[in-house]
Amino acid sequence: MEDKRLSITDERTGSTYKIPVADGALRSMDLRQIKTGPEDFGLMGYDPAFMNTASCRSSVTFIDGEKGILRYRGYPIEDLAEQCTFLEVAYLILTGELPTAQELEVWVGQVRHHTMLHETTKKFLEGFRYDAHPMGMFISTVAALSTIYPEARNVLDPASRRLQIQRLVGKVPTIAAYTYRHSLGYPYVYPDNELSYPENFMNMLWRMVEPRYQANPTLARALDILFILHADHEQNCSTNTMRAVGSSQADPYVSTAAAAAALSGPLHGGANEAVLKMLDEIGSKDRVPAYIERVKAGHVKLMGFGHRVYKNYDPRARIIKWTADRVFEVTGRSPKLEIALELERVALEDDYFIKRKLYPNVDFYSGIIYQAMGFKPEMFTVLFAIPRTVGWLAQWQEMLEDPEQKIARPRQIYTGHGKREFVPMEKRVAKVASAAR
Ligand code: SDX
Repeated sequence: MEDKRLSITDERTGSTYKIPVADGALRSMDLRQIKTGPEDFGLMGYDPAFMNTASCRSSVTFIDGEKGILRYRGYPIEDLAEQCTFLEVAYLILTGELPTAQELEVWVGQVRHHTMLHETTKKFLEGFRYDAHPMGMFISTVAALSTIYPEARNVLDPASRRLQIQRLVGKVPTIAAYTYRHSLGYPYVYPDNELSYPENFMNMLWRMVEPRYQANPTLARALDILFILHADHEQNCSTNTMRAVGSSQADPYVSTAAAAAALSGPLHGGANEAVLKMLDEIGSKDRVPAYIERVKAGHVKLMGFGHRVYKNYDPRARIIKWTADRVFEVTGRSPKLEIALELERVALEDDYFIKRKLYPNVDFYSGIIYQAMGFKPEMFTVLFAIPRTVGWLAQWQEMLEDPEQKIARPRQIYTGHGKREFVPMEKRVAKVASAAR
């Protein structure tokens, strides 16, 4: 729906342009008509890191950063985390609607049908060193699935897309668990499809010689809730990567691997691992003030704090804090929680953080729960990638079905040399390496 139009006067030429505004945005392509002459390429928008650029229209997730609101397909995250299972929410995110009991039963059956990995995948994993980072193994193994399912290249075929989505949702917990078992030198545990999604994941992680794994129901439910909270988050860095790679019509396995690679960075999904390293570095509550001073001096970041969109408390962090109390009733209270709570208390009263609207985000407390459940910090981002695979796939599918989308190929503002005469080897003079290069 067209809201109104902008009237833009170009003082370079005196010309005035009427630019349509729709949904609070103008189309950057409408700026190209603003030229200083026939030779002029026309105006572009310049927006490093896409601080103020909408790359797509999406109906999957809604975030209101000022109000701390997060909804999947219109349903508040609080309601979904309290009343749904992760696979129920995965169905919602992927299809747009909450499933009926019968639809959920069929969906769970489809996912369960794809929890096994091709045996060659295990051999692929064996090629990694014992101390390989699980996220590196996860990314590589997801990409390797593209070699097992070449038909996945038919990205324009809805039936093929549905099958690959079922495969990926079913297999990412198995891959994650196998990376964990590999890092410990333990044999792989095959999926047990009698168990729920989180229970089966725990089974593949932690079953040893017992005939049947018995998951602690509180921990299984906590994992389910954590998966729900991490499932999607509109156009974050890794989702943007999924859409960009998928826009070339690359298959969903290599696209998901690319998205997981983006997630692995410490400013994004790698932050939960970085939070634990930060808490270990601080060591005790009484050393919190000194660390906060280092943050304010710009020497370190307060990992797990701040967000591009949330300028209020991340609603997921609030639910994670509630979940942490349930987990600690089973595992015992983590001493790191006291440090984290003190960090939060001090930061939320300090003008440096208040002025910059820095609040705890989804990564601030999640790692403390994961560690209390027995995960090593290196596994935390893999735990993020499992549920986020659902969001990446929903956004990938939406991109492919969007008639306005095509291969992603941004423009640039060129800042390099003008045309230069070629210099033959014998005439070249070594340049002093500039620190900026
Ligand atoms: C996730 O996008 C998503 O939706 C991501 C995510 C998802 O579900 O997909 O929500 C998951 O990635 C959560 C974020 C996890 N990352 C961290 O916790 C790492 C620490 N946080 C920061 O690096 C930072 O807050 C970002 C990366 C999350 C956001 O960075 P922005 O939006 O680019 O903000 P900025 O870096 O421009 O910071 C603005 C100011 C700066 O200060 P000034 O230059 O104005 O003086 O705030 C400061 C920053 O230095 N600042 C911090 C800080 N985060 C921002 N200062 C100290 N500690 C921090 N954590």
